[in-house]
Amino acid sequence: MLPIPNYFKYGLSVGFMGLIILISYVELNKNTITPKKTSADYFVEDQHFFSNSSSVYPTVDGCNCLFSTENLTLVPHGENVPVFIPEDLSPMEPDILDKIVVNRRDDGILITIAGYAMRNELYNWIELLKEAREDSFIVFCTDTKLYLHLIVAGYEDKAVLIPDDWFIGDLELFRSTENNMLDNYLPRLSHIKTWVLQRLSYVKDINNVFLLDVNQIMLHARTREYLQTLLHIRWDTQLITTQDSLDQHVFNTGLIMMRTDAGDAKRVLENTVQIQELKPGLTQQEALNKAMDQMELHVKTGMTVLLDVMHFPNGINYFENNLSGSKGIEPYIIHINHKVGEERRELLKQNGFWKLDQEYIDSLSEQVEDIMKRREEASS
Ligand SMILES: *[C@@H]1O[C@H](CO)[C@@H](O)[C@H](O)[C@H]1NC(C)=O
Ligand SMILES: *[C@@H]1O[C@H](CO)[C@@H](O)[C@H](O)[C@H]1NC(C)=O
Ligand SMILES: *[C@@H]1O[C@H](CO)[C@@H](O)[C@H](O)[C@H]1NC(C)=O
Repeated sequence: MLPIPNYFKYGLSVGFMGLIILISYVELNKNTITPKKTSADYFVEDQHFFSNSSSVYPTVDGCNCLFSTENLTLVPHGENVPVFIPEDLSPMEPDILDKIVVNRRDDGILITIAGYAMRNELYNWIELLKEAREDSFIVFCTDTKLYLHLIVAGYEDKAVLIPDDWFIGDLELFRSTENNMLDNYLPRLSHIKTWVLQRLSYVKDINNVFLLDVNQIMLHARTREYLQTLLHIRWDTQLITTQDSLDQHVFNTGLIMMRTDAGDAKRVLENTVQIQELKPGLTQQEALNKAMDQMELHVKTGMTVLLDVMHFPNGINYFENNLSGSKGIEPYIIHINHKVGEERRELLKQNGFWKLDQEYIDSLSEQVEDIMKRREEASS
């Protein structure tokens, strides 16, 4: 855990974390590794780290365990594991770039990641966005069925099917239409968020990506503008998230605004990917927090801004502790993460936050089922 200065307790609005990592090398086992290398260079020089170069990331089983994070001491200003930031990833698919251009607003894009099993929550999220006058967003779909559903619903220009090669392994799990990432939390599945963010961090024509889970409900117009302002106040701010607790300790990854093409954000993401691949049992949030733990805390500088819990409360703080209401504050976004399934829907309904036209969505689902069936018949 990071040491948290006392005066943080009083700051309602922002906590600052992290120091720009200026280190250009990490010493480990007397091997000096310069991070700004392509993966190819890395392998040529450090091939002995891997028994098999088919994967960029060492896995837990069959790893040489030179990279085991268990018994390594923290490298000051650095990572437990040598992190190299790829200069480039494979080029972004042109149709995805087109959708980014169409939905770009003020140099940023608002995205979410969802699967077919989350469609009701997704459409509710979209309806709430519209009420907040936020009509540009992109849904990154983990499966074809949701992608089709969005097309049938008239959101073709806002729907992207995550390409196969953005996933690391386990395609079947990621493509499953049964998994509801909100209700049956599968750590492995949460890794998709890191990978999508990492891909987008390499897009040059946008300034920032705003990732919002579908259980983060936006209640205020101009929320994105508010966050972008925070991002631009200091040139070195690269990452904005909410906090999972009141003690400024834990970053919640359900809301992330990230500056693109920025070295340190890329570094944190790459480190998160590596940690997730080393320890597949960790959720994306746990891995990101581990990656952030390795950065030095500075109060007045640093790459991260933590949003305040009054304006960006989670479910417990908003619904049970009345944290915002007792101060007369109307939040920008509430993260409904304390209930799942029907209980969450009920809570949303009781509070007037459920805007879904269920019959309409169900009728679209029937159409999608029809299309899928006909496709299967045609291909068999
Ligand atoms: C290397 O990767 C290939 C392809 O994934 C696999 O078939 C092979 O068993 C791996 N070898 C080792 C030593 O892990
Ligand atoms: C870490 O240390 C423990 C206790 O000394 C040991 O049992 C374990 O094997 C070590 N793990 C690795 C990966 O070296
Ligand atoms: C929250 O606190 C405010 C101010 O004290 C009060 O008016 C409101 O009724 C409370 N809401 C709930 C749900 O308790």
